[in-house]
Parts: sequence; structure tokens; C-alpha cells
Amino acid sequence: MDQNVEPTAKLKGNIELPADKSISHRSVMFASLHEGYSRISNFSTAADPYSTIGCMRGLGVDIREVGDNVLEINGVGRDGLQKPQNDLDCGNSGTTMRLLSGIIAGSGVTARLIGDESLSSRTMKRIIKPLTRMGADIDAREADFAPLHISRTCPLQALHFPLPIPSAQLKSCVLLAGLFGEEPTQVIETLPSRDHTERLLELPIQRENGKKKIFASREVDIPEQSYRIPNDFSAAAFWLVAGAIHPDAEILLPNVGMNPTRTGALNILENMGADIVISNEHREGAEPVADLRVVSSALTPFDITEHIVPNCIDELPVLAVAMLFADGVSRISGAEELRHKETDRLKAIADMLDRAGADFKEFKDGLEITGRPDFTPRAADYKSFDDHRIAMAAAVLALRSNKTSRIRNADCTAISYPEFWKDLQLLTN
Ligand code: S3P
Repeated sequence: MDQNVEPTAKLKGNIELPADKSISHRSVMFASLHEGYSRISNFSTAADPYSTIGCMRGLGVDIREVGDNVLEINGVGRDGLQKPQNDLDCGNSGTTMRLLSGIIAGSGVTARLIGDESLSSRTMKRIIKPLTRMGADIDAREADFAPLHISRTCPLQALHFPLPIPSAQLKSCVLLAGLFGEEPTQVIETLPSRDHTERLLELPIQRENGKKKIFASREVDIPEQSYRIPNDFSAAAFWLVAGAIHPDAEILLPNVGMNPTRTGALNILENMGADIVISNEHREGAEPVADLRVVSSALTPFDITEHIVPNCIDELPVLAVAMLFADGVSRISGAEELRHKETDRLKAIADMLDRAGADFKEFKDGLEITGRPDFTPRAADYKSFDDHRIAMAAAVLALRSNKTSRIRNADCTAISYPEFWKDLQLLTN
């Protein structure tokens, strides 16, 4: 499906965002590993978390959808997973494939993990290396890509693992395998990445010389996962930018996840001068939550450097859009990891900026963007590259054009935000 985006005189309303995708994946995996019942409410309706449900069902877990985004799960415990009859289909979801690989390797169940074309072209070496050191046998296409055939015949080895890249998927993969070991596996993190795994599993943590050590072993009692999942900050980011750059905007976003390892884009936008009000701060289970309100703002430039990239990694496409309307030169550096997402996102952002007629340069690890508050993007035909976050960033950009633009293959937004186009309509009416 292609989607037209019309310029709009106003952008106003209250948006109930989808539930957090990262937490949705983890809630199902951890509830499955817990021995006993969990009730998860406000589960994400997006395609990626459904890939995780399908895989956990394939491993023999009883997961029931009891209406209104509520899941009831009868967890089988660490030793209750069954050998799947069929391939485990991770769809488009890197989080499903990488976290599940840790669970499969740790449990010793034999399984084959497959994914769609995009996922099958993303590197899996980062997880294959540590899991192999822990004793897993992994066959991968060209030693790097899915399908992954995972089995284990020798005993699980504990691992001492300083993270070579600040990736929450890699961190979680190793910790999940570690949960099955007699001796503690230790993951050492220097740059903080999202910490939902350690929060939801209540893993032991030590902080030393600016580093964080996280431990996982059989000693850890996997807790029940009964809570309400906060709405997704990564989805909120599209409206925070859309509201800030639009001349007549007021957007309210209730119950947004405010985990500090996720809200880098909020700090960046506030630093750029975005007028965002945070209210109703409270907690949902282990996670902080608040309501956000954004109105039209005058933006100044900002430099995003390597150490803050992990906390805004998924928001960089839409932050690049915000930079186009800041008064001066902004930069994104140390973000080469974007080249390994659902598509090469640096290339995809550059393509989007080029089609809009923007003034920018692309580098190996980032972008330099010269913005102007009165920048009017060309009415363009934007490519989504079948990447949900690129499609949504292009839509936010197109709202500032003076003519109709088109987003190609726009239905990929269903990967994280199935109601995105409806919500856009709601704000413009
Ligand atoms: C995720 C971690 C991030 C992020 C992805 C979700 C997670 O990936 O980009 O969308 O839920 O752990 P990396 O850990 O590979 O950076």
C-alpha cells in the first residue's frame, strides 16, 4: 500500500499509542520462562511482538489472548520448553531472533529460527560468537545470517562478556542463555543500552568504575510478569517531532514509557528547544511512565554523539527530520549501527532527505544536516525501504510540505505501530 500525506493546517489531538514493543517481546518470553501464571495487559498489537508469541507457542507455551490486548500465559519454567515441530518464524523482528537464540541455546532445545528477507540479511555474528563460546552449536547461512539452526550437546558454560557493542539485543541474548547455567554469566556494559531485561527479570547488578555488571544464572528466580505495559516511547517520538516542527500543533500522549535508557530523544528535543510538558509521572510494574504534551516550537541545532546514540537509536530517523527545521547545522555521529537495522537506516535517511531537497551530508557513521525553520520539503515520492521507522519519519517530514507527498509501501508501519495512519488522520481532522 502507498500512502498520500497532505500538508495540514493543524495537528491537534490526543493519541493512545501502541504498547512498548521491546517490553512486549520480553514480557512474553519471560512469562513463558516463569513457572506459573502471568497476566500481561496493554500488550502491543504490532506485528513484531506477535512473531514472539508465535515462537513461544512453537516451544510449547500456552499463551491465550483474552481480549482487549490482554495475554494470559501459563509459563513452563526454564526446563519446560519443548522441541518445536516447525521452524520458529521471527518475521521482521531482530529482537525476537536475537533474544530467542539466547533462550534456545541456554535451554538446550534444538530449533531452527527463520525470518523475512530483511531479517535474513541482518548480521547474527554478534550473537553466534558468544553463544558458541557458551557451548551452543549454531549453523547459519554463510556463517552469519538466518536461518539459524541452534542445538547444544555439551554443558552450558558461563561467560564473562564485556559487550563489544552497546546493543540491548546482544546483552539480553547472553543474559537469557546465562539464566540456564549453574555458574553466573556476567555481562559488562560500558555505554548504557535499554535495560528492560535486567529490570523485568530483577537480575543482580553491580556498578564499578562507570561500568555495569549484570549477572544471570539458575539462581535467579524468574518473576511472574503481570503488569500493564507502558505505551511505546519510540512511537511517541514521531508525534513529539511532528508537533514541535508544525506551526499549529498540540498533541497529548498519555501513559508513555519513560525508562531513562529509552528517552534520549526527549532530552535531545528538549535541548533543541522543543516545548514538551511531562505530567502524571507514575510507575507500571518496573517501568516509569508519564503523559507527554508537545506544542509548536522553535528549534535550535544539536550534535548527537556516540555515547548517547544507544538511548535514541530507534528515534534517529525522526530526529534527523527535526534537525531539518532547526536554525543551523546539526550532526549525528557514532551511529554506524544504524546501517544494521531493518534496512541501512543511514542510507534510507539520506535518500529521504535528498528527495525532500534538504541540505545534508552523509558519512560512514552519521549525517550533517543544515536546517532552516522555514524549510519547505519538496512534495516527494518517499521510499520506505519496507522499514516502519523510515515510513513514519517520512510522513512527519511530508506534513511540512506545501503539496501532497507519497510514502511507498507504507503498510510496513504495522511492524511497530499498526494505527499510525489512522492516528495521523485523527490529528489533522
Ligand atoms: C531493541 C534493541 C535495539 C533497538 C531495537 C529493539 C530491544 O537494538 O534498535 O529496535 O528491544 O532490545 P540493538 O540492541 O541491536 O541496538
